[in-house]
Amino acid sequence: MIKVPFFRPSIGEAEIAEVVETLRSGWLTTGPRVKRFEEAFAAAVGSPHALALNSCTAALHLAVEALGLESGQAVLVPTMTFAASAEVVRYLGAHPVLVDCDPVTLNLDLDDARAKLEAVRAGRGPVAVPAGAELVGVIPVHVGGLMLDVGRLRAFAAEQGLWVVEDAAHAFPAAWRRGPAEPWQRCGEGSADVTCFSFYANKTITTGEGGMAVTARADLAERMRVMALHGLSRDAWERYSGGASWDYRIVAPGFKYNLTDVAAAIGLHQLARAEELRLERQAQAERYVAELASVGELELPPADADRVHSWHLFPIRLRLERLRVDRNRFVEELRAAGVGFSVHWRPLHLHPYYEQLGWRPEDCPKATAVWERLVSLPIFPGMTPEEQGRVVEVVRGLCARHRR
Ligand SMILES: Cc1ncc(COP(=O)(O)O)c(C=O)c1O
Repeated sequence: MIKVPFFRPSIGEAEIAEVVETLRSGWLTTGPRVKRFEEAFAAAVGSPHALALNSCTAALHLAVEALGLESGQAVLVPTMTFAASAEVVRYLGAHPVLVDCDPVTLNLDLDDARAKLEAVRAGRGPVAVPAGAELVGVIPVHVGGLMLDVGRLRAFAAEQGLWVVEDAAHAFPAAWRRGPAEPWQRCGEGSADVTCFSFYANKTITTGEGGMAVTARADLAERMRVMALHGLSRDAWERYSGGASWDYRIVAPGFKYNLTDVAAAIGLHQLARAEELRLERQAQAERYVAELASVGELELPPADADRVHSWHLFPIRLRLERLRVDRNRFVEELRAAGVGFSVHWRPLHLHPYYEQLGWRPEDCPKATAVWERLVSLPIFPGMTPEEQGRVVEVVRGLCARHRR
């Protein structure tokens, strides 16, 4: 029986050779390869400034800090996301205002964002948000790599005076446009005040652990660079190229978030292959659609002609009313058949920490309902046609066996 993992990284010989060369070079931490990686990434997304970091979480933290988020303020954050998007708001003592999702794309529901914003500003927000908290920003997530309607989001943010930090952990490479006659805009190309990418092991390109913050604003880039390295004045980074003054100055209590050259060595070659890897995932997504669209017990993730989809995830939704098993039983049977899976995600408002803050299931009813139906299927470059065929066979078989 073929076993199919949920994910397997695609590491080429060029990545391996560059890591070995880095190890032999005598320069392991932040240095020339990080600089090259930042420059190449900035060019790839079309942004003037890129800062390589040791995670996307670090990028999100630095972004909200640089934007001046203060204790007691509030930020709109989707509930359908990973821990990182909201925890960085808590790092600074501010309050995430959890927003419901669109049950089809799983992206932030802009109507609910507006409703929650108006409620918070009118002093009748969810009980988890202290009365009087000033709402200052929004952190949208492009779930699975399908960008939300950036034009609509930016218009809403501008109208309401909110900054935008994009959690683009899944969205490289990805792009959107307003319509077929409009130009494409890449994720990170002015799509937010700061856009944060992840290079965690299972992401679309990887450095093992790693991330990147990109911005068009020189002031934010400067602040993030200082705070990423202990709050040392800008020229402290020069110590990584041997040219630094010994007499650096501490200007703020910063963090330690820099990426190593060993990691950047992997990233440089992953970046060069990014579109090739994306096309492989896209072909796999198309095959899933071709082979699973007729299965009435499933709803498949949407494609959109006005999006370049990174296809980081392939989240299907079970039509539980047509099945005699629930999602948990369905995934147990996937596991028993040797097929890897994941669930993206149990929404934040249904986790103990957020429940303790006062969030209730009815605060985000669509996410509360849809998450019980979610299963992410394997999608990764290097998954063989036989492996994908096995996933399709098992999923079809489970649906047939448990059909009502
Ligand atoms: C939506 C989202 N945001 C942020 C992160 C955090 O990324 P990192 O592990 O690079 O900090 C993840 C990681 O899985 C994620 O899925």
